[in-house]
Amino acid sequence: MCVHDRAREFRIAGLDRLHQLAVMGGVQESQGLEIMKFIYGQTPRRITEVKLFKQRFNLAMIVRDLYLCGERRMKISGAIALVTGANRGLGLRFVEALVEFGAAKIYATARNIDTLMSLVERYPDLIIPLSLDVTQQVQVDAAADAATDVTLLLNNAGALDQRGLMEAADLSGFEQEMAVNVFGLARMCQAFAPIITANGGGAITNMLSVVSLTNFPPFGTYAATKAAAMSLTECLRFETRDKSIEVFGIYAGLIDTDMTDNIVGDKASAREIARNTMLGMEASDINFDADDRAKTVRPGLRNDPEGFTKEYWVRAAEFRVNHPLS
Ligand SMILES: NC(=O)c1ccc[n+]([C@@H]2O[C@H](COP(=O)([O-])OP(=O)(O)OC[C@H]3O[C@@H](n4cnc5c(N)ncnc54)[C@H](OP(=O)(O)O)[C@@H]3O)[C@@H](O)[C@H]2O)c1
Repeated sequence: MCVHDRAREFRIAGLDRLHQLAVMGGVQESQGLEIMKFIYGQTPRRITEVKLFKQRFNLAMIVRDLYLCGERRMKISGAIALVTGANRGLGLRFVEALVEFGAAKIYATARNIDTLMSLVERYPDLIIPLSLDVTQQVQVDAAADAATDVTLLLNNAGALDQRGLMEAADLSGFEQEMAVNVFGLARMCQAFAPIITANGGGAITNMLSVVSLTNFPPFGTYAATKAAAMSLTECLRFETRDKSIEVFGIYAGLIDTDMTDNIVGDKASAREIARNTMLGMEASDINFDADDRAKTVRPGLRNDPEGFTKEYWVRAAEFRVNHPLS
């Protein structure tokens, strides 16, 4: 039986059969990769990632997961989205990109609902404004009660205290970063994953950072929270793999928003990151590097982890010279 017939058989037979066949050894490694290519039209880069992934998990599970992933491929058009921190910065651009890509409805949320009014005026038929501080469980529960038709959750809200661990006078900045970037994201996932599944499936997209992958000491505590958020993203991906939810982690370097207003350096435009993210989701690129900076980090860490870290330290030292603590 040729690979394409095998792939068709898998489509028809359903997941249990696919899994069973794979476990029984019905899928050879090379065949498995061919099947993935055929079913999903994966790019070579994605296939390489699959190969690396495969070193840790058995092929049977990967074929099965990719099958699920292919079935779930996210379409922004028609999606009902909820964006946290939608009033400014990247969150605002996410809303604009969702509109551009054809979302049917967008719950734009912010701590202060008044800051969402210009969005409502621009897109009166599409935007539902909601008051939402992600650190407050009561408000998250209220948002989940109000937005029961969500199919795409975009966890964008974030906090950054531009200090390292020893630079901080106390833990208050770190605690706020944890409250928003980790616990806020976690409680949003807990609240909305069941809703998305009940609505027939969709996606949860977490705005991470290159510093999720490697610590940048001038943002040391923030990086720790973004690493934790990445880890939760992976946990969520596993736990929702049979629940019709595709889970995306979005990685970027410096983006030109209020968060980095005081920083001198190359920054990607928030509009570009938001549009790229839509494209990444539609391509099912679950660990999506949204800008040029992000695209260098994974290969850098893979090829020469120690050298890459040293280079980061040089950049960190230069950064502190150019951006002294106030
Ligand atoms: N800018 C960068 O260089 C960069 C790079 C990589 C990743 N990121 C990530 O991208 C996301 C957006 O950042 P940004 O650059 O747009 O930052 P920003 O301009 O500082 O905006 C942060 C947003 O998060 C909201 N927010 C903060 N605490 C919140 C809370 N407790 N509940 C709800 N919303 C809250 C803010 O609302 P208020 O208006 O009420 O404060 C604001 O809408 C963050 O997750 C950030 O970590 C940013």
